Amino acid sequence: MEEIAKKKVLSCIQPSGMLTLGNYIGALKNWLNMQEEFDCTYAVADLHAITVRQEPAKLRQQIYSTAALLLALGIDPEKSNIFIQSHVPAHSQLSWILSCYTQFGELSRMTQFKEKSAKHTDNVNAGLFSYPVLMASDILLYKPDLVPVGADQKQHLEIARDIATRFNHTYGDVFTIPDAYIPKVGARVMSLQDPTKKMSKSDENINAWVAILDSKDDIIRKFKRAVTDSEARVCIGENKAGINNLIGIYSAVTGKTAEQITAEFEGRGYGDFKLAVGEAVAEELRPIRERYETFIADKKQLEDIYRMGDEKAAYIANKTLSKVMKKVGFVL
Ligand code: TRP
Repeated sequence: MEEIAKKKVLSCIQPSGMLTLGNYIGALKNWLNMQEEFDCTYAVADLHAITVRQEPAKLRQQIYSTAALLLALGIDPEKSNIFIQSHVPAHSQLSWILSCYTQFGELSRMTQFKEKSAKHTDNVNAGLFSYPVLMASDILLYKPDLVPVGADQKQHLEIARDIATRFNHTYGDVFTIPDAYIPKVGARVMSLQDPTKKMSKSDENINAWVAILDSKDDIIRKFKRAVTDSEARVCIGENKAGINNLIGIYSAVTGKTAEQITAEFEGRGYGDFKLAVGEAVAEELRPIRERYETFIADKKQLEDIYRMGDEKAAYIANKTLSKVMKKVGFVL
């Protein structure tokens, strides 16, 4: 019997430091969930990382660590393709070509560029500006149907679609126009210390965020200290940003609905609830941390895995790149 082709998914993650519970619930958990239903390609976006200054030794370590973490999550290289962006030169090559089909004006309107250039005033480099073109290349090379992205990357996916649509309009059907994939679960995880702000690894207060690789004790301590309100009832509500956030986290890791959670903690204090959330999160992350330790300890195995991924990715990417080059008029 003929198999119906699975839809294709592509996403990338930057190797820019410790990944947080926010990255896990908002993105990575879904990467894992998608691998059965879809044909998935996942890359470590190391080229994007150098749009802000990186220390070489640290960057190298983080590239390994991000690849190891993807495997530790349970992403299976036999089912999904995992590779490293900079190992597939087609990304940089297509990026140059597409940058000639992208307007200065549209890149100037990107919210992330405006924010990052305001933050790093001493290094407003051309890469920071053309970042969305590289991201469009990451996507378009693999002709995915769906691209899971968080809210902060939606505008970048939009511009990728615009670039692809215009290119197709001029040269015929070259690129697939991908849709955003909005996952079923995956609440936005907020800071544990200021739940009106997104959880971020750059927060100076280490109690504000949980790293995927944090120890059980650290995780529980951070949840115990989480900022809540004075109502003392575990339910979703206005002016209850802290509790809403904890309910969202608990729901994402246990699969329980907000109503079930409210019923479970009826008549019990926030102390009990915070401990339960901390324990549930620690339990969910424990096997990931354990597997991470084995993957990161075996560089040879890690390298074998990403080399295989690089090769598979390059094969697909080069086909698309050749087609683009032919259409544009290069001699191949
Ligand atoms: N810019 C994305 C981020 O910082 C990472 C990324 C790079 C990406 N290329 C991509 C995401 C392609 C989706 C598709 O989160």
